[in-house]
Amino acid sequence: MSSRTVIRGGLVVTASDEIHADVLIEDGRIAALAASPTPAAAAFTADRTIDATGKYVIPGGVDAHTHMELPFGGTFASDTFETGTRAAAWGGTTTIVDFAVQSVGHSLRHGLDAWHAKAEGNCAIDYGFHMIVSDVNQETLKEMDLLVEEGVTSFKQFMAYPGVFYSDDGQILRAMQRSAGNGGLIMMHAENGIAIDVLVEQALARGETDPRFHGEVRKALLEAEATHRAIRLAQVAGAPLYVVHVSATEAVAELTRARDEGLNVFGETCPQYLFLSTDNLAEPDFEGAKYVCSTPLRPKEHQAALWRGLRTNDLQVVSTDHCPFCFTGQKELGRGDFSRIPNGLPGVENRMDLLHQAVLDGHISRRRWIEIACATPARMFGLYPKKGTLAPGADADVVIYDPHAEQVLSAETHHMNVDYSAYEGRRITGRVETVLSRGVPVITEREYTGRAGHGVYTPRSTCQYLT
Ligand code: URP
Ligand code: ZN
Ligand code: ZN
Ligand code: ZN
Repeated sequence: MSSRTVIRGGLVVTASDEIHADVLIEDGRIAALAASPTPAAAAFTADRTIDATGKYVIPGGVDAHTHMELPFGGTFASDTFETGTRAAAWGGTTTIVDFAVQSVGHSLRHGLDAWHAKAEGNCAIDYGFHMIVSDVNQETLKEMDLLVEEGVTSFKQFMAYPGVFYSDDGQILRAMQRSAGNGGLIMMHAENGIAIDVLVEQALARGETDPRFHGEVRKALLEAEATHRAIRLAQVAGAPLYVVHVSATEAVAELTRARDEGLNVFGETCPQYLFLSTDNLAEPDFEGAKYVCSTPLRPKEHQAALWRGLRTNDLQVVSTDHCPFCFTGQKELGRGDFSRIPNGLPGVENRMDLLHQAVLDGHISRRRWIEIACATPARMFGLYPKKGTLAPGADADVVIYDPHAEQVLSAETHHMNVDYSAYEGRRITGRVETVLSRGVPVITEREYTGRAGHGVYTPRSTCQYLT
């Protein structure tokens, strides 16, 4: 049975255009757009009409960096695929790309199967997977080719976390050489983890155990050094590179330099680095633990370089790195030793709103908002134009966004399964009103109308952003 929906009277905003247009949806896909009011738009007929007068009509957000249920630091990220994707929908995100994990001694396939099992039947919105490669060997390298063919086209490696996810330079080079051949994209956690571990040990020996020391030992220079090293290894391998969660001015400078040289080097930052700082890490009574993530929050002065990078396209994507741990019982594991605080911040629900606030604050344009949060992540990770834009043939993943509504971010009202908000009390102008995933209403005028299992696994093509 065919079903048709028309969204009338809104301002359609994509990465490339802003037009007053009506949007016709048929069988889960965008069928047509027509400037409104015009006879062409008036001719759209449908079973259901959504009035978007005074609202924006935007593509659903694509969050290319989440960690639902991630086992980390002796515990698990507190959002499951069910709770985390529901919260994402509340925040106007309709696709996540989560990280399946290979643990040392196991195959990529083993890890990927485990992540499929966690997600399948539980997601409110569509999802794909990147693969964390923690054990580069001959078998793993061969498996990378197979994964690219089946739609897992990106691989995260870690220059940090020795003994857990860490790869040495030789392992990194080999994986990059493989991705140069198979079209995969290496995503790098760029921090010199070997040096950081020395500084951690020395800090703890001095009795520096509070959360703020997490930020002090994970130095900006050690992010920049690793970023530089990853760039040059990728250059030697002839492979593109995507650096995740960039937080330091000095790391942005490395990306800028590489891009000025013409290299296919890309960078992602996250809302926490744009809106929070070491001031939060220094909050008293162990409250700073709420803000422990890696790369760490930086002094406020670094934010200007991140905003600038987003404007100059030296940074291309804002993802959340959503990796929530409750304050009670999880972050508290690190009382008396900051190195035991599980690393990660909640944010999958907040990204679209925080970036809309950035539009109002003059940091980025409205179209750039959609570009960094929807279109480019979709292109970067091979989901475009199915995801990330509103065009005939695209999945009808659509958000009706009220740019005038006022809200205050708070753990009392958010939908993430975590007992604090990193943005508690922050005022935002703008709010998601209605969300469609493949034409199906998941949020309807601020009510959850979705269901676990509506979201499906979405295989991806290779990177569509190479120059
Ligand atoms: O602190 C963070 N970012 N936790 C998640 C794991 C990672 O490195 O992305
Ligand atoms: Zn990381
Ligand atoms: Zn600095
Ligand atoms: Zn992450």
